[in-house]
Amino acid sequence: MRKDLSVQTLAVLLVPFLLILTVGGCPWFPDLGNGNQNTNTNTNTNTNTNANTSEPNQPVTPGDSGLTGKYVGSARCALCHTNVHRNWSATLHATALETLEAIGQGNNSICLPCHTVGHGEQGGFVSRALTNALAGVGCESCHGPGRDHVENIEDKTKRPPKSIAADVCGKCHTSEHHPNFEDWEESAHSGIQSSLVTQFIAGSNALTCGVCHSGDVFVARLKGETVGQDFLKNKAADDLNPITCAVCHDPHRKTGNAVEPEDGRDYQLRFAQVKFVTPTNTVAAATDPTRFNLCGQCHHARDRVWTDGSREPHPSDQINVFFGEMPMPASKPDPIVPSRPSVHLNAAEQCSTCHVFRSPFVAGRAPAVSGHTFEVNFEGCVDCHGTADIAKAKFDGLKVEIDTRVAQLLAALNAWGTAKNIEGKGALSWEYTSEGGPSAGGQNTIPDNIKKARYLYYYVVQGGGTGVHNPDYVREALVTALTLAQTAP
Ligand code: HEC
Ligand code: HEC
Ligand code: HEC
Ligand code: HEC
Ligand code: HEC
Ligand code: HEC
Ligand code: HEC
Ligand code: HEC
Ligand code: HEC
Repeated sequence: MRKDLSVQTLAVLLVPFLLILTVGGCPWFPDLGNGNQNTNTNTNTNTNTNANTSEPNQPVTPGDSGLTGKYVGSARCALCHTNVHRNWSATLHATALETLEAIGQGNNSICLPCHTVGHGEQGGFVSRALTNALAGVGCESCHGPGRDHVENIEDKTKRPPKSIAADVCGKCHTSEHHPNFEDWEESAHSGIQSSLVTQFIAGSNALTCGVCHSGDVFVARLKGETVGQDFLKNKAADDLNPITCAVCHDPHRKTGNAVEPEDGRDYQLRFAQVKFVTPTNTVAAATDPTRFNLCGQCHHARDRVWTDGSREPHPSDQINVFFGEMPMPASKPDPIVPSRPSVHLNAAEQCSTCHVFRSPFVAGRAPAVSGHTFEVNFEGCVDCHGTADIAKAKFDGLKVEIDTRVAQLLAALNAWGTAKNIEGKGALSWEYTSEGGPSAGGQNTIPDNIKKARYLYYYVVQGGGTGVHNPDYVREALVTALTLAQTAP
């Protein structure tokens, strides 16, 4: 289930902008039109200097005599929220108007709504001379107007919202120049499984499942709030946040967590983009997010081990497969498959190399690729494999190999099941209870060989990315599993 509430809200907010952008034309991005409604710039040039603008911005004396409306400006918030303000001041949001000014667009009202606080609204940014305190993307760009709050500090009902909803960011991070919001909307991260939505609002599983499936739970825990199973009880289904922008991005500060940001940038990632760990096979380590990179915060194995009979492993173990590790029961700690890090471990941005590949907007030719669908983009393989086609061909070859091995393994498991026919389950006699296999009692009669083989089957088939996350490890797991299944008593 994808949340479509945010699309509607966004459409309402954005339609006026988009119309202006397409109808009025955009002087800086000439493909959008010929700029006939804007007389303050030379629309035929597209260079990074002020020299080509026919009327460069005149220096103005900054002032705030126009600051009389609902917006008060970020400096005012600094009086009390000193740390947040200090952190924010160093982000690119704080200097978003300077970015426009550097290219002679500081007065362009097409650009200002996303590069200042509230431009075009009553009480919003007008100009440096009148409302300097509202320059850049400020506190109130995300929290809404703050005057009511600063004039009634004690009044809890007047405190600004601190929503992690994606449309807070999506109202600006949108359009063909930076379609992060649209791409994210297409991704699996923009939805919560409907069965989980039902459980969350009924007051259950916020902790067991919400730690990875609910943005609200994830962020609350980051902030050190106590979260119980009923954390999301009685919320409206539409108010539940999935994996939104503010789950992965710190809204307030530069973090230094991105490995290769462009000059002067930071990306404000909440967790390190790259981590190297020594593979281990204990449950505690394989499920400990502090060992892992950003994606591994949630894409790690849950605590199921091969001795369990009720349920198969969760399909979220990509980071463990990547490192070549697998949680083993404390009583039987020897790994079924020897640990072996992936050939892809050194990909410059690890998971993001292949899953968050970006490319810039090219005027008149290509909208920007934000990478925020999180789907694999074979352009991300080019640095090492030469071309996207070569990498794709390699992947397709590996996929055939892995699919073949998986089919052999399944056939062997089914053959064993047919021969043993536990509880009349026939071919499914090898399966977990949740997948149509024997009940708890019947599970006790399944030999260790089969339990290990079926565990490997799910561990690599569901989480292995068709082998590409760690080709040799997945191969070895499937070879081992086949032998185990074929030699099971
Ligand atoms: C005079 C001091 C003061 C100023 C100025 C001030 N705040 Fe606050 N703010 C507070 C206090 C006190 C709280 C409640 C803190 C708490 O409960 O931890 C608060 C809470 C908040 C919250 C959290 C609300 C919540 O539900 O937890 C936000 C967001 C916020 N302020 C934003 C702003 C913004 C934006 C500005 C500037 C427009 C601002 N504040 C200016 C004192 C101030
Ligand atoms: C009012 C419009 C607006 C809103 C709302 C907004 N942004 Fe931005 N954001 C911008 C602009 C403009 C820039 C580019 C600033 C520049 O380079 O001068 C930017 C830059 C960024 C960057 C790049 C920073 C860097 O160092 O590379 C990130 C990450 C980001 N925003 C995330 C967010 C998130 C997350 C939210 C919501 C919590 C959000 N933004 C809300 C307009 C906005
Ligand atoms: C719909 C909101 C929106 C509008 C309108 C808008 N911008 Fe931006 N702008 C952004 C966001 C968001 C970013 C940050 C992009 C990112 O980091 O992915 C940005 C970044 C930039 C950057 C930094 C370099 C880059 O491309 O990342 C420049 C320069 C810029 N904008 C110029 C302009 C100009 C000139 C206009 C008007 C013609 C304009 N913008 C209109 C939202 C907007
Ligand atoms: C790009 C959007 C964005 C900007 C700009 C922004 N905030 Fe926030 N803020 C958020 C989001 C989202 C949350 C909730 C998630 C979190 O706390 O990390 C939040 C949380 C808060 C909180 C409550 C939790 C805490 O960290 O104490 C306060 C207070 C706050 N912001 C104040 C401010 C002030 C003051 C500024 C300006 C100096 C500001 N914010 C700028 C998006 C933003
Ligand atoms: C450690 C983090 C984590 C926890 C805890 C977690 N999940 Fe997941 N879950 C994921 C990730 C990541 C995926 C996406 C994996 C994929 O599709 O490859 C996922 C996928 C799913 C899916 C889609 C499965 C499919 O086969 O397409 C369902 C349903 C699901 N989880 C339910 C739950 C339930 C119910 C719980 C609690 C009992 C839970 N999850 C707990 C991380 C987690
Ligand atoms: C699952 C985690 C995740 C979520 C959710 C997410 N991002 Fe990102 N974002 C990333 C990563 C990782 C990068 C760094 C990409 C790179 O290194 O090239 C990034 C980069 C960015 C950048 C800077 C690069 C650029 O595109 O100019 C912006 C801006 C941004 N994200 C905005 C957003 C917005 C807006 C949303 C919500 C609509 C969002 N992100 C949701 C992980 C996430
Ligand atoms: C806060 C937890 C969290 C983080 C962090 C996270 N994910 Fe996810 N991811 C999920 C969950 C939960 C799902 C499954 C959503 C669903 O199907 O309901 C998912 C789904 C996906 C899917 C789709 C899987 C499928 O079978 O279609 C991909 C791909 C993905 N994530 C990649 C990434 C990447 C790459 C990163 C890091 C940039 C990342 N994720 C960070 C929780 C997370
Ligand atoms: C950091 C460099 C790097 C990147 C990026 C990278 N690879 Fe690889 N890949 C390697 C190396 C090294 C090998 C091992 C040597 C070989 O087989 O070419 C490899 C092997 C492979 C194999 C063969 C596995 C086998 O044993 O049969 C496939 C398939 C593959 N890569 C697919 C991809 C795809 C698809 C992408 C992008 C989505 C990608 N790679 C990105 C370095 C990389
Ligand atoms: C070398 C490139 C590469 C790297 C690095 C990589 N992946 Fe993948 N990933 C793939 C490919 C290729 C697929 C299969 C896509 C397909 O079937 O279309 C995939 C599939 C997935 C899926 C879909 C579910 C599945 O298992 O089939 C998820 C989720 C995922 N990867 C998450 C991650 C995470 C988390 C990381 C970091 C630990 C990561 N990936 C690192 C290339 C990569």
